[in-house]
Amino acid sequence: MTQPELAYLNGKYLPRHEAKISPMDRGFLFGDAIYEVVPCHHRKPIGLQRHIDRLQRNLKAIGITANKSDNYWRSVINTLAQDSPTEHCGIYLHVSRGEAPKRHHTYNNDLTPTEFAYSFQIAPPPSSANKPSMGLKLKSQEDLRWLHCDVKVTALLGNVLHYQHAVDAGFDEALLYRPGGKITEASASNVFCIKDATIYTPVLDHTLLPGITRGLIIDVLRDNSSLTVSEQDLTLQDFLEADEVWLSSSTREIAPVVQIDERIIGSGETGPIWATVIDLFQKHKYEYA
Ligand code: PDD
Repeated sequence: MTQPELAYLNGKYLPRHEAKISPMDRGFLFGDAIYEVVPCHHRKPIGLQRHIDRLQRNLKAIGITANKSDNYWRSVINTLAQDSPTEHCGIYLHVSRGEAPKRHHTYNNDLTPTEFAYSFQIAPPPSSANKPSMGLKLKSQEDLRWLHCDVKVTALLGNVLHYQHAVDAGFDEALLYRPGGKITEASASNVFCIKDATIYTPVLDHTLLPGITRGLIIDVLRDNSSLTVSEQDLTLQDFLEADEVWLSSSTREIAPVVQIDERIIGSGETGPIWATVIDLFQKHKYEYA
């Protein structure tokens, strides 16, 4: 018989199907919660300290006091990764403001946060020798989300609807732009475009998530290559005219894009800079805490 998958709930490890929370939890009622997804390959987390730093920063940003040290979260993530039935896994970690006696928009500061985590299977890391068989197709959409997309909150309905509309229209992901045309990100990834061997990505502000993978790519390239990375404002036109376009996220790492709306990007196939960068990323990604 296979072992039931392990989850972490409020200080205890238990089979995932036994993890239960109250319907009065503010995470359920209001999406009043933050989360992280930590990728682990061969059960080893990537960018672990950066994920924990972002978790602590986001708790502070929405005023949840979880009072847990970095070491505490590190141990939860490593325990679930070690227990995972698959050696390539993501650890989902979620902290809500907790259960309140009645539903009201405002909260008292004496609530006990609800902490939940579990592991799930992700694909093995891509490489130039292990290319995704098909590049992704993006559908451009005006970004209709709120203006705190830099905080990783679980209230993801905006992202969910953007992603779903893209998939319903036969695409793989949404490419989002603000009124005025500035590209922010995709609905569950950061974005890069490449022109004449320079790698561009939108500059960080409140309209996009400071992705850990995005940051690792920039650091790996600055430390290990002569490729130029430029963080700047970009438009949909920049993406349509690019030689290559990529998505980045903890679960995808770096994913090549071959089409945006009806426009084929570059040669319509996985590009040569992607092949160089994915191999550099695989070689150096564990070197960053
Ligand atoms: N999503 N932007 C958005 C809106 C995201 O949801 C994500 C990740 C990213 C990339 O961030 P990172 O490199 O830190 O994973 C950017 C995760 C994987 C998710 O929600 O499942």
